Amino acid sequence: MARILTGIQSSGKPHLGNLLGAILPGVELSQRPDNECFFFIADMHSVTSIKDAASRKEHSRAVAAAWIACGLDTDRHVFYRQSDVAEVGEFAWYLNCFTPFPMLANAHSFKDKSDKLSDVNAGLFTYPVLMAADILMYDAEFVPVGKDQQQHLEMTRDIAGALNAQLSEELLVLPEARIQSDVQTVPGTDGQKMSKSYGNIIDVFAPEKELKKQVMKVVTDSLGLDDPKDPDSCNVFALYSLLADPAQAAQMRKNYQSGGFGYGHAKLALFELILERFRDERGEFTRLMEDPSALEEELKKGADKARAASAPVLQRVRKSLGFKPA
Ligand code: ADP
Ligand code: TRP
Repeated sequence: MARILTGIQSSGKPHLGNLLGAILPGVELSQRPDNECFFFIADMHSVTSIKDAASRKEHSRAVAAAWIACGLDTDRHVFYRQSDVAEVGEFAWYLNCFTPFPMLANAHSFKDKSDKLSDVNAGLFTYPVLMAADILMYDAEFVPVGKDQQQHLEMTRDIAGALNAQLSEELLVLPEARIQSDVQTVPGTDGQKMSKSYGNIIDVFAPEKELKKQVMKVVTDSLGLDDPKDPDSCNVFALYSLLADPAQAAQMRKNYQSGGFGYGHAKLALFELILERFRDERGEFTRLMEDPSALEEELKKGADKARAASAPVLQRVRKSLGFKPA
């Protein structure tokens, strides 16, 4: 059995990039018989950027509903909300005390974020330590993440190595990153990487009218209806071909190249493809969002299993630091 763990922050609505880049590949991994998956909503991480309780709760519910709507079997796996096992904060503190300051100061994601954001708080700086705690507290072996998270995984291994070297070699499991290099970066409506923080998302689960509005916003060049168009430099085509089967994509390529096919037509085809591709998931998502107590039940079940899995690891660390067991 391989133990796989990954988390998604609840700092915004789950979008097409999250689905194609994280949730669907995660669900696929969870369907292989030898994998035991720990998937969680990283709501404590979201405090670095979101201070408002109502939006955190709403986004946490939406991220949870997205995973379940996409087919995660929550009986077979452990699906939980990070803050439901808040001991991860205690665990992160211990890890902090084994983390060299310059290692954090050199983190690319901190440098990027501190250049872009106005709220540069210490949580943003120690974020990789909380992420290490998320992983190490569950003895995770494999962590599927995007390339942007690779350095955080290296730090996690370094921190675990430091505890093992100074306390006991058997204390923590060193996890391996599974970098999802085959997953393409999904472009947003403005052509940059789709991201909650850039206001350029396609919210696959939005009501039809809103979804259509988002799709219609995708930027293109200004060629007219009759002009032949280059599919390979077009965001609408890029999004379409991520979802289409090969025959549909080949037909769309022909439409672009032959002229008489406008960007409006292409966007409409993309909108319809999203509706068709995610019909069941959209239905299930809406059902879950309308039944908060069922969703809470799911998360409670996950929290109980997550606590049972993390308790022995936490006890090992407490004991090796001379604290009495809780
Ligand atoms: P965001 O940039 O919207 O805040 P996160 O950083 O929370 O997204 O990412 C959550 C997961 O979704 C990560 O595994 C990340 O690699 C994946 N992901 C996010 N945006 C994209 C995208 N545009 N294309 C592919 N994968 C993405
Ligand atoms: N840092 C990750 C991101 O922004 C989210 C995350 C938090 C995570 N803790 C984790 C991912 C542990 C994998 C494992 O995408």
